[in-house]
Amino acid sequence: MMKVLIIGRGGREHAIAWKTAQSALKPQLYIAPGNAGMLTITEKTGAPVHLVPIDENDTAALCTFAKEQGIDLTIVGPEAALMNGIADEFHKAGLPIFAPTQAAARIEGSKQFAKELMDKYNIPTAAYRTFEDYQEAKRYLDAKGAPIVIKYDGLAAGKGVVVAMTVEEADAALKDMLEDNHFGKGRVVMEDFLQGPEFSLLTLVNGEQVVPLVIAQDHKRAYDGDKGPNTGGMGAYSPVPVIPKEQVTWAVEHIMKSTAKALCSEGCPFCGVLYGGLMLTQDGPKVIEFNARFGDPETEVVLPKMKSDFLQTVLDLLQHKEVNPEFYDDAFLGVVLAAKGYPGKYAKSLPIRNLDQVKQNVFHMGTAKNDGQWVSNGGRVLFVVGQGKDIQSAQKDAYEGVKTIDAPDLFYREDIGWQAL
Ligand code: AMP
Ligand code: GLY
Repeated sequence: MMKVLIIGRGGREHAIAWKTAQSALKPQLYIAPGNAGMLTITEKTGAPVHLVPIDENDTAALCTFAKEQGIDLTIVGPEAALMNGIADEFHKAGLPIFAPTQAAARIEGSKQFAKELMDKYNIPTAAYRTFEDYQEAKRYLDAKGAPIVIKYDGLAAGKGVVVAMTVEEADAALKDMLEDNHFGKGRVVMEDFLQGPEFSLLTLVNGEQVVPLVIAQDHKRAYDGDKGPNTGGMGAYSPVPVIPKEQVTWAVEHIMKSTAKALCSEGCPFCGVLYGGLMLTQDGPKVIEFNARFGDPETEVVLPKMKSDFLQTVLDLLQHKEVNPEFYDDAFLGVVLAAKGYPGKYAKSLPIRNLDQVKQNVFHMGTAKNDGQWVSNGGRVLFVVGQGKDIQSAQKDAYEGVKTIDAPDLFYREDIGWQAL
């Protein structure tokens, strides 16, 4: 029996495990550390699921575990594990892993690396400058004016970006990042403000081989009407009707394939999921950011839409076989239930009732079980996925599921999918 290890503990990993479990290869699943909600995969698919109490950042322990258990394939969710060099360690140990090396993962971990690569290989993105010194950054700001975008150069869990509509707002962000070292000592990238609908293009990559999945759209702001602070993502849907097919095809060729090729030329070929956070501007698609991993929550709608055997697809790709995954025509739309206060301060162990009455697919982002009762165990807690012949009916289905859940201390956006309706 094939043994697959999935690393991570959120909704994204739940979706990866759920989809992997349905493979014709009938795998045994190990998830480190996973969450209690993932055990429901066994009821749904029959696949054995084992939660492994090893932290996703404990690379050495994960490597030892994989060796001892004879794990056939490891799939990695969170970026921190990639930045720790988990793929490099697994390669040294001769263990198969679907994840980029530390060098390749810089495409996400360092905004400056990503920007320089895009410049060098003519991959379309906003013009930018990098600064370490507040005074210099301030001079550039005064010359450029607003709106302008300020990004902390490093991992800040999706929260290190300020889209400043005024010079004052931009200045405050520069002070925060360069003088008060809010995220630690570092650099900022200041870039031109772009406009247009955003979409996420997840591709499965091995070297120069790039396999696009269907596009999705995330909702980064916390509240309805795209108001409030940026979050890890409050909901997602696929397909994204506002983005024409030809633009996606163009982005696959000129952004995703060019980037995979560029990384090969730079001596750090990419293996794993290359995620393009793209914006369709008046001048065509441009890169807002790259991630070196599955998006969360995009994965939770993209994998349900995938008809083909996900595990087989990844195994074939690792052997450089040609793969052409198929997708369902149905639309999928998912809504995040988050703890009140997220993305700021929030409480844990908040009660969740009626979860077993939800007939829609639910991915657990941050839950635990306390005396047989589901409770929250993180900022983003649950992800309820609706399905339908179009976005409207998928939305209706998702909110029916959301409303079944009795969790007064959680909140959700009521308008997921608005750009498609
Ligand atoms: P990022 O973490 O780089 O994806 O940025 C978070 C969000 O900030 C993006 O989803 C965009 O909505 C916005 N953003 C980032 N860069 C730009 C830009 N150059 N122009 C306009 N909006 C941007
Ligand atoms: N949903 C955005 C991300 O995964 O970075």
